[in-house]
Amino acid sequence: MQIQENFSLKPYNTFGIDAKAKYFASFATIDELSELLADYRLQTNISRLILGGGSNILFTKNFDGIVLKNELKGIQLVNEDKDFYYVKAAAGEVWHEFVLHSIQNNFSGIENLSLIPGSVGATPIQNIGAYGVEIKDVFYSLEAYHINDKTIETFFIDDCMFNYRESIFKSKWKNQFVILNVTYQLRKQSKFNINYGSINQELERTGTKKLSIKNISQAIMNIRSSKLPDPKVVGNAGSFFKNPVISKFKLHVLNEEYKKVPAYSSDQYNYKIAAAWLIEQCGWKGYRKGDAGCNPLQPLVLVNYGNASGKEIYDLSEEIIQSVKNKFGIELEREVNII
Ligand code: FAD
Ligand code: EPU
Repeated sequence: MQIQENFSLKPYNTFGIDAKAKYFASFATIDELSELLADYRLQTNISRLILGGGSNILFTKNFDGIVLKNELKGIQLVNEDKDFYYVKAAAGEVWHEFVLHSIQNNFSGIENLSLIPGSVGATPIQNIGAYGVEIKDVFYSLEAYHINDKTIETFFIDDCMFNYRESIFKSKWKNQFVILNVTYQLRKQSKFNINYGSINQELERTGTKKLSIKNISQAIMNIRSSKLPDPKVVGNAGSFFKNPVISKFKLHVLNEEYKKVPAYSSDQYNYKIAAAWLIEQCGWKGYRKGDAGCNPLQPLVLVNYGNASGKEIYDLSEEIIQSVKNKFGIELEREVNII
C-alpha cells in the first residue's frame, strides 16, 4: 500500500506506453483504499485514476496525480435460484480467469467473452462485449465506493445505463466511484450463442461435434488469437474506435457506391457499420509510421510496435478519424480511454 513517486506505468498498460505517474499505489482491501484516499499528499484536488489491467487506456502524457491499482481478490457463489447462480467477483480479479473458473463450475453465460483482457471491475465500465454477448446480459449488481462521500453504494442493472460500450461510469459518474465487486447472474442450463461471426465455422473447422461452454470458449479463443494482436507481443488496447451507428438511408447511399458494406441492424432505423471496413477503405490497414501503426489483420486495432509515444498513437487516431470523415462523412468515436 506504499505510495510510490514518479512511477513508470509501462508495465501497467497494454499499449506499453512509458508514461509516468506522479504517485502510484495498489490496494488489496477497502480499508487500504480509504486510507490511501485520506493520505495528506492526495488531498488537494488531485486527479485520481483507478487502474485495472490497463487494457483500455492510452496515456498521452505523464499522469499528474495518483494512479490507484486495484488488487481486490476473491470469487464467491453468493446465491442461487431455479435458473441462476449468483457469483460475486472482486474487482481486481482477472476477467479471463473468472471466465475459466465459471466454465469449470458449469456457470454459463460468459463463455463468449473469453480472452478479453483486463479486470472484473472494468467489465461494467464500458459494458464489455464480444461475439453476441455483453456484460449487461449477465449483470446482476455491483458495489462501488464513492470517493468523495466515502460510502459504499449498490448498483443494479437499471442504475448502470448500459449501452454499446457505454455505462453511467463512463458518463455521469466518471471517476467518482471505485467499483469494488460485481455479481453476475449465470445460467444453470446453458443457452449456447453460436450464431455470431465465425463461431459456427470454427466449431466445424475443429471438428467439434458436442456443444459445451468449454468448446465454445475454445472456439472464441481461437478466433480472437487469429486476428487480435497479443499485447505481450505488440502493444494495443483492442478496438481503438467504436463501430459507428448510421441511418438506414445513409447505409443505402453507401451501398449504391460500395455494394456490400458490412453493417448490422442496430434498431428499427439504424445500422451499426464495421469501422474496420471504413478504415481499410481509407487505406490505413497495415500502415506504420515509426512505431505507431494500424494492425494489418484487424485495422480497428491501433498498435505500438515498440517505442511509440501515446501522443503518436493518438495523432494517428486523429488522422484516421479525419480521413474516414472526409471519405464517408462518418465520425469515428474512440473507444479507448484517453488520459
Ligand atoms: P483499464 O484499462 O485498467 O481501465 C479502463 C477504464 O475503466 C479506465 O477509465 C479506468 O479508470 C476504469 N476502471 C477500471 N477499473 C475500475 C474500477 N474498479 N473502478 C472504477 N473504474 C475502473 N473490450 C471489449 O469490450 N470487447 C473485446 O472483445 C475486447 N477485446 C480486447 C482485445 C485486446 C487484445 C485488448 C488489449 C483489449 C480488448 N478490449 C475489449 C478492451 C479491454 O480489454 C476492456 O475494456 C477491459 O474491460 C478493460 O479492463 P481493464 O481492467 O484493463 O481496464
Ligand atoms: N473487416 C474489414 N476489414 C478487416 C477486418 C474486418 O472490412 O480487415 C470488417 C468485416 O466485414 C468484418 C467486420 O469488419 O465482418 C467486423 O470485424 P470483426 O468481426 O473482427 O469485429 P469488429 O466489429 O471489428 C467488434 C468489437 C470487438 C469484438 C468483436 C467480436 C467493437 C468496437 N469491437 O469488432 O471488441 O471482440 O466485434 O464481437 O465493437 C474491443 O472492444 O476492444 C474489441 C476487440
